[in-house]
Amino acid sequence: MDSLQERVALVTGAARGTGAVIAERLLQAGARVVATDVRDEDGESVAARLGERATYSRLDVTSESDWARVADTTLQRHGSIDVLVNNAGRLHLGRIESTPPETAREVLDVNLIGPFLGIRAVAPAMRSQGKGAIVNVGSLDGLLGMNGVAAYAASKWGLRGLTRSAALELGRDGIRVNTVCPAGGNPEMYTPWMEQIIGMLDEAKAYTEDRAIPGEASLEAIADAVLFLASDASRHCTGADLPVDGGAHAGHFLPGFNTL
Ligand SMILES: NC(=O)c1ccc[n+]([C@@H]2O[C@H](COP(=O)([O-])OP(=O)(O)OC[C@H]3O[C@@H](n4cnc5c(N)ncnc54)[C@H](O)[C@@H]3O)[C@@H](O)[C@H]2O)c1
Repeated sequence: MDSLQERVALVTGAARGTGAVIAERLLQAGARVVATDVRDEDGESVAARLGERATYSRLDVTSESDWARVADTTLQRHGSIDVLVNNAGRLHLGRIESTPPETAREVLDVNLIGPFLGIRAVAPAMRSQGKGAIVNVGSLDGLLGMNGVAAYAASKWGLRGLTRSAALELGRDGIRVNTVCPAGGNPEMYTPWMEQIIGMLDEAKAYTEDRAIPGEASLEAIADAVLFLASDASRHCTGADLPVDGGAHAGHFLPGFNTL
C-alpha cells in the first residue's frame, strides 16, 4: 500500500538532514528519486550513496528557471513526476525588531514561494498524468506561535494555507497536496545560533519534555509520515496537516496530574 514502485519522486533540500532521509525512504519504497538542493557536493554524495535509482540536480527553490529546468529533465529522463516533496527550508531565529526585513523576505522566499513555484512547475505534468502527490514539509511552528521565530513561523503557517488552496484546485485532477508538520529535524539548521542555544539548554529541554511523547521527532519518523502522504496509503487524504510532534500541539502535559 505504501509502495512507490514505478513512481518518480522529486525531493527539495535533499543534500542533508531530513531531505536526505526522505529521499532514502522513498527510494526504499521503490521510487526513482531526483534529489535536489543548492549544496551540490553534499547532494551528489547523497545520490551516489543511494545508488542508480537516484540522481542529483541543482535546484534553488526560489528560482523559476531552476524549477522549469529540473521538471523538464526529470520528465525527459523518467517520463513522469509522481511525487514532489517540498522540503527545502531556511530558519531564522530572532525577535521581529532584530530581524532585518530582507532576512524575513528571504525566509518567506525559500519556505513559502519555493513550494508555490514547485507546485506550479509540476502541476501540468501531474495533471496530464491524472495523478500526483505533493507533500510540503512544514513545522510545529506552523501550528503554534512561538517568540523568536516570527519570519519562519509566518512562512510555515502560510505553507498550510498554500496546501489547502492547492488541494482544492488540483484534487479533481487526481493530485493530492498535504503538509507534514514536524517537531524536530536536523540540528545543523540551528548552527548559526548554537552558542546562544547552548546557554539555554534547560529551556530547550523543557520545551520538548512537555509533550505526550517527550523529545523530538527523528528524521526517520518524519520520512515515514512523508512516505504515507506520498503513497496510495493516504489516497483519500488531501489538504491535511499531519503533525509529527509527539502531541506538542495537542496541549500541555502536567506530570503531577497523571497521578491524581
Ligand atoms: N531542524 C528542525 O528542527 C526542523 C523542525 C521542524 C521543521 N523543519 C523543516 O524541515 C525541513 C528540512 O530541514 P532540516 O531540519 O533537514 O534542516 P537542513 O538545514 O539540514 O535542511 C534544509 C535543506 O534545505 C536546503 N535549502 C535551503 N535553501 C534552499 C534553496 N533556496 N533551494 C534549495 N534548497 C535549499 C539546504 O541546503 C538544506 O540542505 C525544512 O523545511 C525545515 O523548515 C526543521
